Amino acid sequence: MRTSVGIIGAGPAGLLLAQLLQRHGIDSVVLEARGRAEIESTVRAGVLEPGTVELLAEAGADARLRRLGQEHRGIALAFDGGRHRIDLYALTGRAITVYAQHELLKDLIVARLETGGGLLFDCPVTALEAFDGSGPARIRYRDAGGEQALECDFIVGCDGFHGIARQALGEREPPWQRQYPFSWFGILAASPPSAPELIYACHERGFALVSTRSPTLQRLYFQCSPDDSVDAWPDARIWDELQARVPAADGVGLERGEILHKNIVAMRSFVARSLQRGRLFLAGDAAHIVPPTGAKGLNLAAADVRLLASALRAHYRDGSDEALRDYSRRALRRIWRAEHFSWRLTSLLHAFPNAGPFEREMQRAELDYLVSSRAAATSLAENYVGMPRDWG
Ligand code: FAD
Ligand code: DHB
Repeated sequence: MRTSVGIIGAGPAGLLLAQLLQRHGIDSVVLEARGRAEIESTVRAGVLEPGTVELLAEAGADARLRRLGQEHRGIALAFDGGRHRIDLYALTGRAITVYAQHELLKDLIVARLETGGGLLFDCPVTALEAFDGSGPARIRYRDAGGEQALECDFIVGCDGFHGIARQALGEREPPWQRQYPFSWFGILAASPPSAPELIYACHERGFALVSTRSPTLQRLYFQCSPDDSVDAWPDARIWDELQARVPAADGVGLERGEILHKNIVAMRSFVARSLQRGRLFLAGDAAHIVPPTGAKGLNLAAADVRLLASALRAHYRDGSDEALRDYSRRALRRIWRAEHFSWRLTSLLHAFPNAGPFEREMQRAELDYLVSSRAAATSLAENYVGMPRDWG
């Protein structure tokens, strides 16, 4: 099999890239290790920056999102028993959209299949070859029929943190990374939203986040120990812990309901040293990880593939490789901005095991500043809704 761009991974990065390329008249094939049903049911992120929503419109995959996504014009920071609104819209003129990642993946998969583009499920990629030379690059993968090969001009590794592309790129130096001494416990609950907007709560028992999915579904998270297990947390204990960390508004507590799903998410920061070697490029979680506090993971993946799609268009349409050569530099500028923001928000809102009274006062002083100074709140809001397109 032969195509122009071979894409590894049908996550947000891979599927969105394929659709953007299709719009530019560039053919591609997406190879995905997992099955469609598994991809469409894995619960992950939920906050889309306005720039990501615009990109989904450009990819022709925004119809359901426009109907079912919820626009939020603010978020709340909760600490010391009170809630304080950050008015994202008043400060930046922009709003976020809450829409589940797996719903987005369903939309992108339908868009891909409707346009007749190549998308192969249950096809784990096993090796990448010849991307350094001048002939066709080769992706080796397995399907039900055995060992197969896909020849292409370019390979894009959108295969997540545990994928194969970053290893194939063969970094000479170790990546930049940081592991945090806590994880997030995430739940999906059958109950109406506890609040009209997201609540990020800083409490001495640990961080908590109240998010939503629909008028009947909530998504909530709380900081837990990295060696915690889902089984250690029966439903009543989860609700009590969340309620202890999130201050009630006017005496009204969280909307409890049946817990439909529980998972634990590790917290790390990670940036690969290089996003390119020869005609192999990395995008999304394959290239970088942020702790989820700033809701940046999915949005960064989208920003990476926007740059790549436009650089590949310049290659095929104008015969210019300048933008491809510049991809790493441009993408890394936004990546490091998001890395810093996610690290800062994580440091601000979590209970660190070794923190003493001084560190806690530092957190309180910054929280007080964020909710009292327009300048400080604007900086938070600008990062939260996402840096503008010309940022990289
Ligand atoms: P992925 O979504 O990881 O997709 C990569 C795809 O590549 C996968 O489908 C995988 O099966 C496939 N693949 C891997 N190896 C191979 C191979 N050898 N061959 C073929 N295919 C392969 N972000 C937030 O902002 N908020 C959250 O609450 C949040 N929760 C998360 C929870 C979990 C458990 C995880 C893992 C991530 C979470 N994230 C969250 C981050 C966000 O979901 C990611 O940043 C986003 O999914 C990145 O998209 P991606 O396409 O780069 O990678
Ligand atoms: C959600 C996830 C996040 O990481 C975040 O910062 C806000 C919301 C969510 O899943 O809804």
